[in-house]
Amino acid sequence: MKGVVLAGGLGTRLHPMTKVTNKHLLPVYDRPMIYYPIQTLVNAGIREILLVTGGNNAGDFLRLLGNGKEFGLQHLDYTYQEGEGGIADALRLAEYFADNEPICVVLGDNLIERNILRASQAFQDQKTGAKILLKEVSNPQRFGVPVLEGERVVRIEEKPQHPRSPYAVTGIYFYDASVFGIIKTLTPSGRGELEITDVNNAYIKAGQLTWDILEGWWTDAGTIESLFLANQLVAKTGANKLEG
Ligand code: DAU
Repeated sequence: MKGVVLAGGLGTRLHPMTKVTNKHLLPVYDRPMIYYPIQTLVNAGIREILLVTGGNNAGDFLRLLGNGKEFGLQHLDYTYQEGEGGIADALRLAEYFADNEPICVVLGDNLIERNILRASQAFQDQKTGAKILLKEVSNPQRFGVPVLEGERVVRIEEKPQHPRSPYAVTGIYFYDASVFGIIKTLTPSGRGELEITDVNNAYIKAGQLTWDILEGWWTDAGTIESLFLANQLVAKTGANKLEG
């Protein structure tokens, strides 16, 4: 399995901090934010990783990460997203890199306490389709939220005013190679973006989406509040633990 970290977008919710740098280069406790999603993939045994970036500071990623030596990697791939067309638009750029292999996608502002080894193994056994990871949160209206019927996710609603479950769809996704065909069928949402939630709903319609609960804490770091929380969580308990 190959890995993709999505670190495009403009990070406007973090202005003025993101006026002169990319959101994913901001510090979370003792490391730049981008270190966490890369470590998530490396801890899952993934060694071929593509970083999708964008905006005015793309060169800084290369200066910071080089070939990924700090993560024990021999090589890192990079690509550039023009504009801010959404998460699925950024993922579209990974088609050539994925080369028909399954992929694990991690959003560049997502941090986890533990690891995704078990889910990654389960997806490899599943062989086709997609897998998402859910986490119970106190503010689901800020995220993609699954509508559950028993054990079945029947639909995902993006940032619903009235969430139908207490879960967030975390920004860690497993896809087979058909994801790129699905992205080509998408049209921009109300906020003008190609939505990853529409990708996941297409897998649900095809009866090809499984889910697990993510263990340990999870947070994004894309708002002032969540960036502050991410700093506190990492300072208190550490992140990306391999054991447990
Ligand atoms: O964090 C999990 C949530 O992420 C999910 O629950 C939602 O379903 C999903 O839509 C997403 O919601 P956000 O609105 O928080 O996503 P945001 O626009 O902040 O983008 C998250 C990351 O995706 C960002 O750190 C970099 C990447 N991205 C985003 C956009 C809009 C790109 O690479 N390119 C883009 O154009």
